[in-house]
Amino acid sequence: MPVQEQHSLPKIGPGQPIDDATVWKAPDFPEGRAWARPLEPVMLDEIEAALRQVKKRDIAAKDIRAADFPLDKTIPFLAGLYRDIECGPGFALLSGFPVDAYSEEDLRLAYCGVGAHFGTITLQNREGEYILEVMDKGKAYSQQSRGYHSTAHLDFHNDGTNTVVLLCTSTAAEGGLSRLVSGTALYNEILREHPEYLDVLHRGFHHHLRDQGKAGDAAVTPYRTPVFGFFHSLFHMAYAGPSILYCENEGIEITDHEKAALDYLVSVVERPDMQISMELRKGDMQFVNNYLLLHSRTEYRDTAEQQRRLLRLWLDDENSARLGPGKMDWYLPELSRFTQLGGLDALSSAAE
Ligand SMILES: [Fe+2]
Repeated sequence: MPVQEQHSLPKIGPGQPIDDATVWKAPDFPEGRAWARPLEPVMLDEIEAALRQVKKRDIAAKDIRAADFPLDKTIPFLAGLYRDIECGPGFALLSGFPVDAYSEEDLRLAYCGVGAHFGTITLQNREGEYILEVMDKGKAYSQQSRGYHSTAHLDFHNDGTNTVVLLCTSTAAEGGLSRLVSGTALYNEILREHPEYLDVLHRGFHHHLRDQGKAGDAAVTPYRTPVFGFFHSLFHMAYAGPSILYCENEGIEITDHEKAALDYLVSVVERPDMQISMELRKGDMQFVNNYLLLHSRTEYRDTAEQQRRLLRLWLDDENSARLGPGKMDWYLPELSRFTQLGGLDALSSAAE
């Protein structure tokens, strides 16, 4: 039994209210950590045994696949998390990952071993990182630098690939809450309140490559990426405000109507009843369905003794029917499964 069970997802299209388990608002979740699912001792033992196997075979962390890291007794537990990510609220939180029990190298192997059961570990940037350290490296959040090496507040956005995973190895002295918003709940709000904005959101925007392109690439994507898509009759979201707005610096016009649509979208996302906030504690492993949910984090403050550090994975889930464009296609199109399958052109010719 694999973790990535095949689930049949309800088919939906544009212009209709969405009514399924992916639609939620803050009041749907109780306060506290009701969503945390602790690893049990038998699972920790199994992870330890699987870790010994990959070490014996000398497999690099990024190259580990599910079959290399057998977790037979843990799979029903992981499959429950996968169900929540794929057809439930779009997120799951595993707690009690033994971050203090391992050396840094073994921790990365064990983390990738568990993560590999949810998808293929994917390159995340041109700097060559598969296991990305989200921590303050003194870099300002700017057109040339992405937010993961700053302490800045990050606005809601989507990343690349199906699933984004964060493992917390230490927390900030203050702040750094992870926040999530349901994209389908957002879609419903826009449809109800301001459907006149949906056309431009469906048409989408160019995105700035933010120095992630290859030599000779243009500074912005030559095509628009829809904010909301219904590819293969499944909801898909791809939004990143700064990389849309930075395009103006490259001569791309964003009309007043488009700006009004984006401002309105942000105003809905920022409503407190749309968001849940999650404090990531040491040993927490957060899974987010990147095509369903927006994520952000609050500003944080480190001290000399206490520094926030997360290890991030992007997982490509070939088992999932959900597939559409996003950050992977802007920054690393040669590695994006969506682009390799023909991208938006293939979808539009299939629809003709
Ligand atoms: Fe992100």
